[in-house]
Amino acid sequence: MQASARLRAAGQGHLVAALADAAPGDAERLAAQIAALDLGLVARLVDQFVHHDDAPVLDGALAPPDAIPLARGPDDDARDRAARAVGEEALRGGRVGLALLAGGQGTRLGFDGPKGNLPFGSITGNTLFAHHAAKVAAVRARYAAAVPWCILTSPTNDEVTRQAFTDAHWFDLDPGSVEFVVQGTLPAVDRVTGEILLEAPGRLALSPDGHGGLLLALRRSGALDRLADRGIQTLFTFQVDNPLTSIADPLFVGHHLAAGADMSNLAVRKREPDERVGVIARRDGRTVVVEYSDLDAETSAARDPQGDLILWAGNVATHCIELAFARTLTDGGLQLPYHRALKRVPHLDSAGRIVAPDQPNAMKFETFIFDALPMARASITVEVAREEQFSPIKNASGADSPATCRRDVNRLYARWLAAAGIAVAHGSDGEPVDLEIDPRFALDGAEVRVRLAGHAPITAPTLLTG
Ligand code: UTP
Repeated sequence: MQASARLRAAGQGHLVAALADAAPGDAERLAAQIAALDLGLVARLVDQFVHHDDAPVLDGALAPPDAIPLARGPDDDARDRAARAVGEEALRGGRVGLALLAGGQGTRLGFDGPKGNLPFGSITGNTLFAHHAAKVAAVRARYAAAVPWCILTSPTNDEVTRQAFTDAHWFDLDPGSVEFVVQGTLPAVDRVTGEILLEAPGRLALSPDGHGGLLLALRRSGALDRLADRGIQTLFTFQVDNPLTSIADPLFVGHHLAAGADMSNLAVRKREPDERVGVIARRDGRTVVVEYSDLDAETSAARDPQGDLILWAGNVATHCIELAFARTLTDGGLQLPYHRALKRVPHLDSAGRIVAPDQPNAMKFETFIFDALPMARASITVEVAREEQFSPIKNASGADSPATCRRDVNRLYARWLAAAGIAVAHGSDGEPVDLEIDPRFALDGAEVRVRLAGHAPITAPTLLTG
């Protein structure tokens, strides 16, 4: 079928006119964007969400997930030692790979560029990418293993992300050990007509297809096959905006493997019922993540007889995923449900003028990686201490901002030092002086103790590096 016929059949006939009206350079780009669209999928989504508002009904009682709680005594310590040994063995055996989710738009942060380029180190000013890369290097050195690293980008930020790695000489990593995979995009459509919006003459309003797009990007790019060829069986996935991530934490990997899980989760205890974090739970015998916006206040606030939140497990969005499971999830296209969101999207009107709506005018579609959980034959949730592993950067100021994250990282470093017997001076605000520990020098508290035995008290901002 010709492009124009395909567009009309998919209910997108207005794009035929847009193509005809576009200036020569614009027309080429528009034609390329249209050719890349999965028109069948767009038609299905428009039918489901615009014409029928057929969002999946989230029914069924929610219970806490199957979880390994934080160690609280000698038995738990033995349990964790055993799990850690399993994880370390998999890492040393070269069976663990990494996938960093960095394709998001970071709208709330409002930073110009990929979030990974955000200057983060309190002393060096190193970016989030640099911070993660140093940890990856430290993990590789510790386990003497290749630990390949995939980085998910989007068409919007792919070029500048690659450039950041090139400019930084790959943060001293072997370029062959890092692979960028580009996620797909989906168009924003008019919320009433379902017509795909143009953000400028000759340019569709496209946005990344959600972090569930990781799976399809890995499959389509061939990265999944390349990882399998290198002997990788388990992927540790993490988010660019949480610098506290303990990358490839052997405890987590070990619990995941020991449980024979297809996909597993890290969780922190929710601070309060209405904390804006997804909740890991069980529904109808399956593990699910429910977004905070989909939980009613009563369910979120329900407590057990000890007074603890029943739905305690806040989703850290860090997972272990078996490669074989990722393959199943992408057989014959992405097997994840699509979600829709109403947004304000500036666009061209029929007279070719840019309109900046003050009300949500458009529908966007995306998939979430955690929607794979109910399809896992087995899944385990591992609780971690928030102050050790979770402080995401979502907003420019206030909660979950660069300031709160830097503070939390600083506090963690100060605790490591204190546990190693090294006093750290505090400022008049009660916070430790600025500290930065290069992960390649010391990746965790235990390594700080070994490297810095007998170190003098720290009285001024300090960078600890090898
Ligand atoms: P968020 O859902 O917090 O989105 O992403 P975001 O793009 O960073 O920020 P907002 O919502 O626009 O303010 C969580 C993680 O998932 C990645 C992000 O890069 C981040 O690491 N992500 C998100 C993708 O890789 N692709 C996507 O399509 C969406």
